[in-house]
Amino acid sequence: MFEAKLYSERRKNLTSNISNGIVLILGNVDVPMSYPANTYKFRQDSSFLYFFGLDLPAFAGVIDVESGEETIFGNDIDIEDIIWMGPQPSVKELCLKVGIQQNKPFDKLADYLAKAKSQGRKIHFLPPYRAENKILLEDLLSIKISNLKESASLELVKAVIKLRSVKDKYEIAHLDEIMDVAYEMHTSAMKMAKAGVYEREIAGRIEGIALSHGGMVSFPVILSKHGETLHNHCHENKLQKGDLVIVDAGFESILHYATDHTRVSPVGGKFSQKQKEIYEIVLAANNGATKLIKPGVTYQSIHLASARIIAQGLTDLGLMKGDVDEAVKAGAHAMFFPHGLGHMMGLDVHDMEDLGQIYVGYDDEIRPIDQFGTAYLRMGKKLQANFVITNEPGIYFIPALIEKWKTEKINHEFINFTKVEEYIGFGGIRLEDDILLTETGSRLLGKKRIPITVEEVENLVR
Ligand code: GLY
Repeated sequence: MFEAKLYSERRKNLTSNISNGIVLILGNVDVPMSYPANTYKFRQDSSFLYFFGLDLPAFAGVIDVESGEETIFGNDIDIEDIIWMGPQPSVKELCLKVGIQQNKPFDKLADYLAKAKSQGRKIHFLPPYRAENKILLEDLLSIKISNLKESASLELVKAVIKLRSVKDKYEIAHLDEIMDVAYEMHTSAMKMAKAGVYEREIAGRIEGIALSHGGMVSFPVILSKHGETLHNHCHENKLQKGDLVIVDAGFESILHYATDHTRVSPVGGKFSQKQKEIYEIVLAANNGATKLIKPGVTYQSIHLASARIIAQGLTDLGLMKGDVDEAVKAGAHAMFFPHGLGHMMGLDVHDMEDLGQIYVGYDDEIRPIDQFGTAYLRMGKKLQANFVITNEPGIYFIPALIEKWKTEKINHEFINFTKVEEYIGFGGIRLEDDILLTETGSRLLGKKRIPITVEEVENLVR
């Protein structure tokens, strides 16, 4: 938890961006896994964490925009809880830790909101993403679950995104610090990339490292020798010499900040010539993008610049053909690079995606490009100092996609399908770093970059 005054400042900044009414931010509750008392590991709502700091279930935070009155609704534990959970601080004590002077039992929230409603006051709430909070909001506000998303306050959504997008010095220091764990996770995975090892052994080791540092993984580990499947969560394969193993994994810290990196290792310790050639193109796209990242530039333009590096590299290898600029304009690179260059990162690995990706990654000036591949770009708008983003270009040989484009002659003037077919079974390569926008440019988060050159990776794997 940060200092109380930081949470107070954040709430003050929030209300200065809201015209009037009541701001309601619900925390999360425990969710049953297999029976009510057997719950998943608790994960607090990120906006509640950001503004109210308490990492415990069943709290709600309310701010009266006009009066400035702030209240936490939540219950003190009783003797039965103490027997099973041990002594816990009172809600009053918890509230003081985050600068809140007033607390009330949770069941008083309904009366509070009913009174505000009867006075004709606007109640601002965020779009709920968990079933439990959807049901609660339906009860509290008499809005049907199916209408909650549309009824959520766009004013509040935009105000929260404006604040959470720009990381403060405490968040940046914390993010820098937790990159050490990401380093340990990925270098450990590289060292395990040996013939005979099952993917699940590496996935388990990575997750264990995250747990051993008091956090967890920031999303289910993506790890596979079938890297052509972008989000491959099946870890049942046994690695063989010559395979490429892709590891896309992140740490979620004790304060719930995320890391997100991808590295690719050659099983056995040596990239083949063919693997190395594709790897170097992806690395050039990553490094090329990093050089361009600075405030005032749109991430959409950097996505397209990295697509151009990929198209140029593939043309040089004879996999693509024709004019590179025309190929990128037509979206031909997307058969190999069918996703976006990156996303915002912070308290969520895809930061604030629950609030609506369109508001996080785009604005009135920069709209999404509706073309296969580029349409998946989550972050397109102009970059600002203290944004944290990922940079993750990739090249994949996806048999079903190649087959579809060949059969339907999609962008056939830019793709040499005969040559591409020699790469069926190659898998995929993605190289991802976490980047902080500075006042004049950008820098990688963390003390040192996770090994990424061919030589560095081969050395570690060996
Ligand atoms: N690294 C996983 C993702 O960005 O979806």
